[in-house]
Amino acid sequence: MLTRTIYVSTLLSTLALAAPAPQVPGYTGADFPLSASEPTGEPATTFGLDSQVPAIETTPATVAPPRRSSDVTGMTSHGPFSGTPTTTGAVMANTTIAQMIAPLPPNPTATYYNANGMLQNPAPAPYTPKGGLGTNGTEPRYMVNSDFDYESITLGLYQEWIELDLFNNGLAVFSDEDFLAAGLTAEDRAYIAFMAIQETGHATLLSNMLGESAPPQCTYNYPYTTVREFIDFNQKLTRFGESGVWGFINHLDSREVGQLLAQSIATEARQQMSFRQMLGLHPMPVWFETGIPQSWAWTYLAPYISECPENTTRLAWQNFPALHFVNQANPNRFSPNDTQPNEVTGKRVADPSNSTLPADESCVNVNATEHPGYSCAPGIARNRSEPLTFPGKLVNMTWEVPGLPIGPNNSYVTSTSAGEPAFVAWVSQLNLTYTPLTITGQNEGYTYQPAAEVYQGDPAANDTMFVALTDADVFLTPFNLSMINPHVVALGMYQAG
Ligand SMILES: *[C@@H]1O[C@H](CO)[C@@H](O)[C@H](O)[C@H]1NC(C)=O
Ligand SMILES: *[C@@H]1O[C@H](CO)[C@@H](O)[C@H](O)[C@H]1NC(C)=O
Ligand SMILES: *[C@@H]1O[C@H](CO)[C@@H](O)[C@H](O)[C@H]1NC(C)=O
Ligand SMILES: *[C@@H]1O[C@H](CO)[C@@H](O)[C@H](O)[C@H]1NC(C)=O
Ligand SMILES: *[C@@H]1O[C@H](CO)[C@@H](O)[C@H](O)[C@H]1NC(C)=O
Ligand SMILES: *[C@@H]1O[C@H](CO)[C@@H](O)[C@H](O)[C@H]1NC(C)=O
Ligand SMILES: *[C@@H]1O[C@H](CO)[C@@H](O)[C@H](O)[C@H]1NC(C)=O
Ligand SMILES: *[C@@H]1O[C@H](CO)[C@@H](O)[C@H](O)[C@H]1NC(C)=O
Ligand SMILES: *[C@@H]1O[C@H](CO)[C@@H](O)[C@H](O)[C@H]1NC(C)=O
Ligand SMILES: *[C@@H]1O[C@H](CO)[C@@H](O)[C@H](O)[C@H]1NC(C)=O
Ligand SMILES: *[C@@H]1O[C@H](CO)[C@@H](O)[C@H](O)[C@H]1NC(C)=O
Ligand SMILES: *[C@@H]1O[C@H](CO)[C@@H](O)[C@H](O)[C@H]1NC(C)=O
Repeated sequence: MLTRTIYVSTLLSTLALAAPAPQVPGYTGADFPLSASEPTGEPATTFGLDSQVPAIETTPATVAPPRRSSDVTGMTSHGPFSGTPTTTGAVMANTTIAQMIAPLPPNPTATYYNANGMLQNPAPAPYTPKGGLGTNGTEPRYMVNSDFDYESITLGLYQEWIELDLFNNGLAVFSDEDFLAAGLTAEDRAYIAFMAIQETGHATLLSNMLGESAPPQCTYNYPYTTVREFIDFNQKLTRFGESGVWGFINHLDSREVGQLLAQSIATEARQQMSFRQMLGLHPMPVWFETGIPQSWAWTYLAPYISECPENTTRLAWQNFPALHFVNQANPNRFSPNDTQPNEVTGKRVADPSNSTLPADESCVNVNATEHPGYSCAPGIARNRSEPLTFPGKLVNMTWEVPGLPIGPNNSYVTSTSAGEPAFVAWVSQLNLTYTPLTITGQNEGYTYQPAAEVYQGDPAANDTMFVALTDADVFLTPFNLSMINPHVVALGMYQAG
């Protein structure tokens, strides 16, 4: 220990570094005294005992609550459902009051405005400005508190269960060599395994907030044949899982449930970004993560659930018909413009792009040092020289008719209450942007990717994002986006960056 300390301190020379050349155009006055230098010399190669630091032996004061699932969920099966559904359709209330929610003017009590920066009301306690929900001393109750809450958290639980199985599944079906060929090491595999275990905690938390009718894990049918496709599917699945929660979390009746859910979805957001990095995508090419309605998240998720155990609690959300992007950009290509029609692994909307490309068309093994901007090997951040898509790109689409069986036991049915499709609705970041749809045939047509910006300098359409065909261009914002549902003809996922 002593020797090591001396060794390091002799290496830390006191030479000041030369002032760096200006790195950020337009940013002046950056300099302040900097004097540090990186140690030089041979890196460590022996790793014996450390210093013995002060410590005590300790164990948890209380026994932690059990998890609802073990790290892996034991014997499982995968593949499509081949039986006959015993029930069909979403859960319905005995009474449904109207066909859609009617718009109302702003809430008359939503008028607070503070122009002078002072407290406008008596404070209930020192350092405690008046207001907030759940701040008046009432005891928290961490349980769903309405049908809306119940159905939202149940949807979330369906999502956590598939993630637990999915992350383990890729590790189980692909060899260590398969992962290495995709640029993912043993440490990366350990990381994915850790993410699977995180899901056991999320599933337990959501089950506890639902109570005895919380659904169990189901059986799944996956769309990948390679490690890259597995990772691509993960980044898509966690994208709609995360955005599904952002869409409803602030509408929950139970603020307590919202609190705990936020603390789990923050983890899911990190998973999503990590899978993007493993695919050599830009980790977060947006300034804001978007939210989507529950029926959208359920539409994306349901096709991958093949069957659920008897008596599994069913969901009340809608399944929309699938919208396909014929020229969905393939992130495994260094030149995404060259993507061939339908270069995806199947017909479900979150299916990954086909990674089995000729070697001279793939970006997976391009040397990132020699060809910066052209590699899509795993990396902290990749800068694509050729973007996956761009504003003005012609986007070809096909879409399914409603009435198809989907989801667990094929027991849900796709539906729409919209009229003829006329618009393409792009949901990304804080924005909903419509472009006109040109119909070219039976259930096929095209549009052009919009150039709208959130704020100047932040193109709205980017990342793995959400696109719907609609019959109208209703003006909606993030907190009333679900009012789009009666207008949705079909729903897809678009790989924009
Ligand atoms: C809804 O209808 C079913 C069947 O008629 C009945 O069993 C159930 O109690 C009703 N539920 C409510 C909440 O009224
Ligand atoms: C405390 O706040 C909750 C809402 O967060 C409200 O429902 C409740 O009525 C309030 N209780 C009192 C005593 O004001
Ligand atoms: C789904 O199908 C399987 C196999 O036929 C059956 O065991 C199970 O009970 C079904 N689940 C539901 C919710 O009906
Ligand atoms: C499903 O529910 C029915 C009715 O409550 C019950 O008789 C049956 O035992 C349940 N099956 C399972 C597997 O829990
Ligand atoms: C991809 O297509 C667009 C539109 O035609 C074009 O502007 C762009 O240069 C193409 N990309 C490359 C790398 O050729
Ligand atoms: C990917 O494309 C190749 C070449 O066209 C094809 O042989 C392969 O079956 C495709 N993979 C999937 C999963 O569709
Ligand atoms: C990538 O190129 C650099 C520079 O030519 C070289 O040092 C490095 O070994 C190459 N990496 C691989 C994996 O071939
Ligand atoms: C990365 O992308 C940024 C923004 O598009 C660009 O300004 C920068 O030059 C790129 N850097 C490299 C190393 O490609
Ligand atoms: C999406 O973000 C990436 C990374 O900043 C950028 O290279 C790309 O051009 C963006 N796409 C669009 C459509 O702006
Ligand atoms: C995309 O749509 C355009 C316009 O209808 C058409 O010219 C083109 O052939 C279509 N491309 C594909 C791959 O379907
Ligand atoms: C995008 O969202 C921002 C923030 O809500 C808003 O100010 C802006 O007007 C929106 N842009 C478009 C084109 O809708
Ligand atoms: C959604 O909210 C915006 C305000 O953010 C409002 O202008 C718009 O009319 C609302 N849409 C509907 C259908 O209520």
